[in-house]
Amino acid sequence: MHPMLNIAVRAARNAGEIIRRSSENVGKLKIDFKSANDYATEVDHMAEQEIIGVIKAAYPNHGFLAEESGQQQGDNDHVWIIDPLDGTTNFLHGFPVYAVSIALRHKNKLELGVVYDPLRDELFTAERGGGAMLNNRKLRVTQQNSLKGALIGTGFPFRSKQNLKAYLGMFESLVGDTAGIRRAGAAALDLAYLAAGRLDGFWEIGLRPWDMAAGVLLIQEAGGAVTDFSFKDDYMQSGNIIAGSPKMHQLIYRAIEPHVSDNLK
Ligand code: IPD
Ligand code: CA
Ligand code: CA
Repeated sequence: MHPMLNIAVRAARNAGEIIRRSSENVGKLKIDFKSANDYATEVDHMAEQEIIGVIKAAYPNHGFLAEESGQQQGDNDHVWIIDPLDGTTNFLHGFPVYAVSIALRHKNKLELGVVYDPLRDELFTAERGGGAMLNNRKLRVTQQNSLKGALIGTGFPFRSKQNLKAYLGMFESLVGDTAGIRRAGAAALDLAYLAAGRLDGFWEIGLRPWDMAAGVLLIQEAGGAVTDFSFKDDYMQSGNIIAGSPKMHQLIYRAIEPHVSDNLK
């Protein structure tokens, strides 16, 4: 294993342990209201500090882009992209679907990705060019090649209503033709599940870089395709993402394309 991946795994497991322990006492947590439908708890902050602490101890000059503490400049070539707790709303409700997400970007390329589910002790890891793993098992996206029979993941654009109409059009195009659509509430885990063949496709509007970075590398290393809504690579900037095996990716793109308004391109 790449030494930097080792560090990322240690950081993710430590953060996962903080989250798992705290899940027994969610009622007592202090909650910050960040914006409409956007919350953070002291657990999000503690987990993030733990992750940054572990990485800094090994790589003091690296930079960070972390959900709760923002950007920290480093050597500019290495930037760790961190979501300490993806699925905070689930966590606060005791809905057991949330994860830690850590990725390393080196000179604008995603190099490493870790998504860790502390409740199931499932560790998803990817190294660029080295494949994707779930614990000790190598991952491949599914071979599903039609919408019929496909299980598709998504997220709702719940923070701002401006894209709801477009989203509902996309949903309507897909829902009748697939086996089902799931909104589990933790995008990093949705993407990891796609890499692991548990979902055949995924799309969402308005994600942030830390929701996606590790999951995107997992999917690419598991043989999948990822683009924005213009079939390009700008999903980290726009936050709009379509993912799947190459065939499923194309089918989802075709189904949602008529509903993609100019501001989503
Ligand atoms: C959220 C989750 C959710 C997605 C939201 C994200 P958070 O992350 O990934 O599935 O729909 O857009 O913000 O806030 O729980 O880290
Ligand atoms: Ca998130
Ligand atoms: Ca988060």
